[in-house]
Amino acid sequence: MGNEQTMYGLFDHLRANDPVAWVEHPEYRPFWSLSRHDDIKNIGSRNDEFLSAPRTVLIPEAFEQALTEKFGTPNGLDTLIHMDRPKHLKLRKVTREWFLPRSIESLTAEVQALSKEFVDKMEDMGDECDFVKDISLRFPLRIILSILGLPREAEDTMLTLTQEMFGGQDPSLQRGDNELGGLAVLNDFNDFFTEVIAERKKTPQDDLATVLANAQVDGEPMNVLDQMSYFIITASAGHDTTSAVIGGGMKALLEHPEQMALWRQRPDLDINASKELMRWVSPVRHMVRTATSDLELRGKHIKAGDNIALWYPAANRDPEHFDQPNRLDLQRDPKQHIAFGYGSHMCLGQHLATLEVSCFFRELLPRLKDMKFKDDPEWIKAIFVGGLKSMPVKYQLS
Ligand code: HEM
Repeated sequence: MGNEQTMYGLFDHLRANDPVAWVEHPEYRPFWSLSRHDDIKNIGSRNDEFLSAPRTVLIPEAFEQALTEKFGTPNGLDTLIHMDRPKHLKLRKVTREWFLPRSIESLTAEVQALSKEFVDKMEDMGDECDFVKDISLRFPLRIILSILGLPREAEDTMLTLTQEMFGGQDPSLQRGDNELGGLAVLNDFNDFFTEVIAERKKTPQDDLATVLANAQVDGEPMNVLDQMSYFIITASAGHDTTSAVIGGGMKALLEHPEQMALWRQRPDLDINASKELMRWVSPVRHMVRTATSDLELRGKHIKAGDNIALWYPAANRDPEHFDQPNRLDLQRDPKQHIAFGYGSHMCLGQHLATLEVSCFFRELLPRLKDMKFKDDPEWIKAIFVGGLKSMPVKYQLS
């Protein structure tokens, strides 16, 4: 999806005219599309009846076939988002402690220091930068690598691999001529983390990589594929999404200067405002669930085995749920958005993401005297994790 107007226009149309839509597309196996908040929350929370494993996200059929040949599953990976009970609960437990609010709170000083480092970087760059390429793509990446315990030199490799993985539909980001380049991307992730695992087994440290490398499930060491998948989901889900909220959030604040002024004056809004930016950007565009039995939804007959796409940005702009959904309102009740999903797969990193977004803007806003777009922002062409690719800006910092 090229830009946000096209995407939200399409969702408005679906929500009003065909909220449970059957979609057939030449490149994808058919699926149902849900666009209303209530339906998405309802199906998304019934994890025993609507499974994640059979088809987790929409992937072109040709790529699914290549993944099945190589890995035995059309998903390619077997990460938390691809699992169902009972395995999902057992594996989620491995890192649960790390992501609890009290553990995340202990990272506040580090996240604040890195926020300052990135705003200082903007100052060092003078009066213009590409806010996405120079700042918002880099800041959450540095945080997740620091939590994993990986060195700064790994940043470029991780950034490229993650963009190649999530930017699968964007010719400027994908590896090779088409999405099949994704196989090579998975191999590269594999090579990188195999080394990290070996090292942390030999010399344990106080970091998340050590937890993952030495984790036991049911009293046995985690198997290699599970371990690899865990590294990949943590390293990738942890930054592209948050980057998209900081980049898209900055764009939204520039387009709603009165909201930016309000936030600048009211530091108490930090958490609320960050959550409104999550709703506004909703970088995870969809997840897929598979029905385990027949059901009827808004007059449509969904059969056991059918796949159902849950479109989170559509839910987060549903006028039945949000008053004036297309208005950025940093004082809005922050609990209603479902940008982090809902149910037992609800984002493990949500407290970390909220801390990152709030610390970053808390550092930037008081120092930002002025900012303007220098050129039009560009969007990544992606149907899974979407966001901005580039946003050149001119600014004045104090
Ligand atoms: C799961 C969104 C940041 C790690 C999810 C899911 C969503 C989501 C929608 C649910 C998937 C499903 O229903 O199957 C977001 C957004 C973020 C963000 C919008 C930023 C604004 C992070 C961060 C991390 C993270 C910082 C840190 C490592 C994960 C993991 C899962 C997950 C490991 C899988 C949980 C499971 O399936 O049990 N995220 N995420 N995310 N997220 Fe996030």
